Amino acid sequence: MFSKRTCCIVTGASQGLGACIAEHFINKLSEDSVVIRLSRNVQKMEAMQFSNPSVKTILCAKYDQSNIDEKYFDSLLVDICRENNIKTTDFQQAVMVHNAGDLGDISKFTSEMSDAATVRHCFDVNCKAAREMFFKTVAVEFPRTRVLNYSPGPCDTDMQERCRTETADTDIQSYFKMAHKEGKLLSPDTSISKMMDVLKQNKYNSGDHVDYYDEL
Ligand SMILES: NC(=O)c1ccc[n+]([C@@H]2O[C@H](COP(=O)([O-])OP(=O)(O)OC[C@H]3O[C@@H](n4cnc5c(N)ncnc54)[C@H](OP(=O)(O)O)[C@@H]3O)[C@@H](O)[C@H]2O)c1
Repeated sequence: MFSKRTCCIVTGASQGLGACIAEHFINKLSEDSVVIRLSRNVQKMEAMQFSNPSVKTILCAKYDQSNIDEKYFDSLLVDICRENNIKTTDFQQAVMVHNAGDLGDISKFTSEMSDAATVRHCFDVNCKAAREMFFKTVAVEFPRTRVLNYSPGPCDTDMQERCRTETADTDIQSYFKMAHKEGKLLSPDTSISKMMDVLKQNKYNSGDHVDYYDEL
């Protein structure tokens, strides 16, 4: 898949796993491919440097996944393509990595989550189980679209740091602290290298859930 002329889009690419995923594709795809990184923090993405990228066109744009306005999604990629003179017909395949996620306010128990707007925001950004089911259905309805639901394992990112410092439930917080202390967290690069191997081997059934700890 990496040799095809590809339009690759990665959401939540300003840090953590998303930044790592974008970098892996930037280093592996053919030079006439395009990688588009999306997140709310454009400055952070613009400041990123890539040593020896194989892809020539590396773009980034502001994107807020909590904005559920249909028109926003309809115009987002169309505008990016128009502004950068990109024709979708130029590509042999598209790769869409849905990575952006937000923990919300994990310092609160469910009974304390009384602010409807905050809860709504969290649902709008994440919808994790629903997202996985949605993509399984995409896989069935569109056999030409290959869908991989990759679970990265516990990775040492800002999100993990919040889990071990802000989680309301002290037992769960201790669990995350212990995992960190005992060196059980994976680096984003270790986990995403495995994901790239899964994609390269291309043995998974479309829609499959593949975990970092699964044997290839
Ligand atoms: N780390 C782990 O151990 C672990 C384990 C299992 C699954 N995951 C999943 O892997 C994904 C990445 O996690 P991570 O650890 O890399 O988290 P992270 O370090 O907190 O990064 C999250 C990324 O999502 C973006 N994001 C958050 N809210 C957004 C919004 N409203 N619109 C657009 N982008 C938004 C952030 O960018 P901006 O703030 O710039 O918008 C950031 O780039 C998440 O979906 C997470 O649930 C992580």
